[in-house]
Amino acid sequence: MTQTPAQTAPQMPAQTAVKLADYQPYSHVLDRVALTFHLSPQATRVQARLHLAPNPARGSGLDLRLDGENLVLIALAVDGQRLELQPDATGLTIPAHLLPDAPFVLETEVEIAPEGNTALEGLYMSGGMYCTQCEAEGFRKITFYPDRPDVMARFHVRIESDMPVLLSNGNPVAAGPGWAEWDDPWPKPAYLFALVAGDLVAHSDRFTTQSGRDVALNIWVRKGDEGFCAYAMDSLIRSMRWDETAYGREYDLDVFNIVAVDDFNMGAMENKGLNIFNSKYVLASPETATDEDFARIEAIIAHEYFHNWTGNRITCRDWFQLCLKEGLTVFRDQQFSGDMRSHAVKRIEDVLMLRGRQFREDGGPLAHPVRPDAYVEINNFYTATIYEKGAEVIGMLKRLVGDAGYKAALDLYFDRHDGAAATIEDWLQVFEDATGRDLTQFKRWYTEAGTPQVSVRDDWADGVYTLTLAQTLPATPGQPHKGLKVIPVAVGLLNPNGDEVVPTTVLELTEAQQSFRFSGLAARPVPSILRGFSAPVVLNRAVSADERAFLLAHDTDPFNKWEAGRALAKEVMAHMITDAAPVSRNWLAALARVALDHGLDPAFRALALRLPGEDDMAATLAAAGHVPDPVAVHAARQALADAVAAELAPVLPGLIAGMATPGPFSPDAAQAGRRALRNAALALLTRRDGGAAARAAFAAADNMTDSLAALVALLEIGAGAPELAAFEARWQADRLVMDKWFMLQVLYAAPQDLAAVVRRLTARPDFDWKNPNRFRAVIGALSANHAGFHHADGAAYDLLADWLLRLDPKNPQTAARMSTAFETWPRYDADRQALIRRALQRILTAPGLSRDLGEMAARMAAG
Ligand code: PHE
Ligand code: ZN
Repeated sequence: MTQTPAQTAPQMPAQTAVKLADYQPYSHVLDRVALTFHLSPQATRVQARLHLAPNPARGSGLDLRLDGENLVLIALAVDGQRLELQPDATGLTIPAHLLPDAPFVLETEVEIAPEGNTALEGLYMSGGMYCTQCEAEGFRKITFYPDRPDVMARFHVRIESDMPVLLSNGNPVAAGPGWAEWDDPWPKPAYLFALVAGDLVAHSDRFTTQSGRDVALNIWVRKGDEGFCAYAMDSLIRSMRWDETAYGREYDLDVFNIVAVDDFNMGAMENKGLNIFNSKYVLASPETATDEDFARIEAIIAHEYFHNWTGNRITCRDWFQLCLKEGLTVFRDQQFSGDMRSHAVKRIEDVLMLRGRQFREDGGPLAHPVRPDAYVEINNFYTATIYEKGAEVIGMLKRLVGDAGYKAALDLYFDRHDGAAATIEDWLQVFEDATGRDLTQFKRWYTEAGTPQVSVRDDWADGVYTLTLAQTLPATPGQPHKGLKVIPVAVGLLNPNGDEVVPTTVLELTEAQQSFRFSGLAARPVPSILRGFSAPVVLNRAVSADERAFLLAHDTDPFNKWEAGRALAKEVMAHMITDAAPVSRNWLAALARVALDHGLDPAFRALALRLPGEDDMAATLAAAGHVPDPVAVHAARQALADAVAAELAPVLPGLIAGMATPGPFSPDAAQAGRRALRNAALALLTRRDGGAAARAAFAAADNMTDSLAALVALLEIGAGAPELAAFEARWQADRLVMDKWFMLQVLYAAPQDLAAVVRRLTARPDFDWKNPNRFRAVIGALSANHAGFHHADGAAYDLLADWLLRLDPKNPQTAARMSTAFETWPRYDADRQALIRRALQRILTAPGLSRDLGEMAARMAAG
């Protein structure tokens, strides 16, 4: 008998969960911090002076625990007395007996190496400049500190460096050759700390707040980029004004700095007075940025600015409360974008995003509540659920309490919690106190995951119309049973002749099933349900194609008008896939009417022409109990696009000509909408004319929107190789534009070629995979090519796993985020499931796996 070697568990990082239930205030209070940085790429010294005292809320006699990772401790002293203590892997403990039972000063000096920091967390270097990223837990990689958001202190920072521009939070207080000092009068948690040092130039402006404070505004970029900041600056000024008018919130420092960096894990960061941005969300010109880029820059500039109040002045008690700042700030930036552009179009775009990303997350193995109660790695919880569903929950609250109630609650929130670290309980309490409404049941939106399903029956008898709504709540990982939700369902009723007979009314569904009666109607009405997408739910109602077409033609609610067309398109596509049905003539006619309706906003018409994506279709089929075949979904979408192109063929040239945008380029919503409709028409025409019009449009384009749209139209019909080459020749020196070039080839590769295309792209010397934007452009785009990613040979799955494992040791955060491409595996057939599971297993058993990617792979594999 041979002896079996003991099963050695794969070398897995500790997956210990942090739990909301374990929250305790910090042992000490921290009033003031003074930091001195001697910057050097390999050996930066950081000296910290912390003014601490025992926290009366916890009592005296407690050890002091400081977080700290990858720090070389040089010196440590309490009240000037040197201590010889050794840190452990995650921090430093100073035993109570070495601490006075009174206020004291703790001094540390550590050494760190920003140059080797590829994780882009803590102090790192990007393109020759020093910068920081501290949210969520990056400050502990800079110095020993209580790195938790409920410890708020005033920071004074001194930077010593030969870099010409030295920035930190707050106001500049003194500077000389080789040094600068900054002082931030507002107490803040360490995650809002920032430092930048580099050879930078500023695009500057000024802003006077409503109470008369004169604020210097600077957008700092590398030399040569200063001509690309005007739109971001304009967006910033409009954001500052908007927050004053819409929320009564004013800026509170003498300077507001934004810095653009090329290497950044996320979009941007709201550090107090010193926002740091992924350069992708700052730099723009008509030649280099698309209309979508402009809209995104405007939204993200606003988002980070709005955090100054919702996030910074009022912060989160702990990371479980992340949605307190993110959900609210997303909600605010959505309001802002709607005000700047079109509420209808913005709402449709937001819902497309919510369904595409959040519903997908909520229905899969990574589902979690808007306020989670446990995590292994907090970086894995910067999710569509926290951000987008977090914003939806606030939209529902506003709908339930009304505009006046919302305003009263927000005023109370700012009043009551300014300068403090708050919780979701605090947030709901201000709504209860300001409006008298009991939110006990509503709170479940925060604590329970999963997308509720609302089914609708209707009935007409004796002149009374009855709507019966019922809710069902799906199980999610760790939450098999759900409590009933409060679901605001906005409803309007239309006459058979198309007139609105009952304007939008909000029905509150709070029970498992409820009926709502409407009397005084002359005829059975056509209901328009869930107007404005009044709740993040899936609506189940058997609606005839005729009724959908009626709503597409007549609904006064722009969201539901669009939704009717969307639902029709999905039904048509589903029938093509499951029953080989032909494309519905009625749908084509209805779509054509909207596309040609000059009374409608061109942006809306362009959205109506956008066909459901393949991932969306796969999700829809799976929800209806089918196993989606990616090949069939791809074929159906192609056939559908061809049918639309054929139907509209006679009118496309006229539509294109009619949507011309004469005069200089402007990124405003009106022009952008015209370009969107024109380019939607061009894409259709390209399916008919072999690409002639798109080639001409590409050659003539004087802006990135038109240039890219023409290129995409060509790639969609399998053409465009010469244009891709011309694009590369023109833009090879521009990293942000080249990211687009990389991504397009991944998105539009023929499914069977995807793995080969990606192998070719990743072999190029300019595939700088340590740059998150470039990695995302190629590897992150893999799964957006749905049929290619899910090709039956599994090559794309393996390729993704290979690259995640390669990136993980360098940048675990980005590797973990990109792994969500695998989250939809339960939808697919057994063969594909097995292939994905094998890829996940390979990740899980890889030696030295990070906590970030380890947690994600484990959750997905368990799902
Ligand atoms: N707090 C940032 C935002 O949403 C996002 C972010 C999180 C950036 C973590 C970097 C790191 O505005
Ligand atoms: Zn945010």
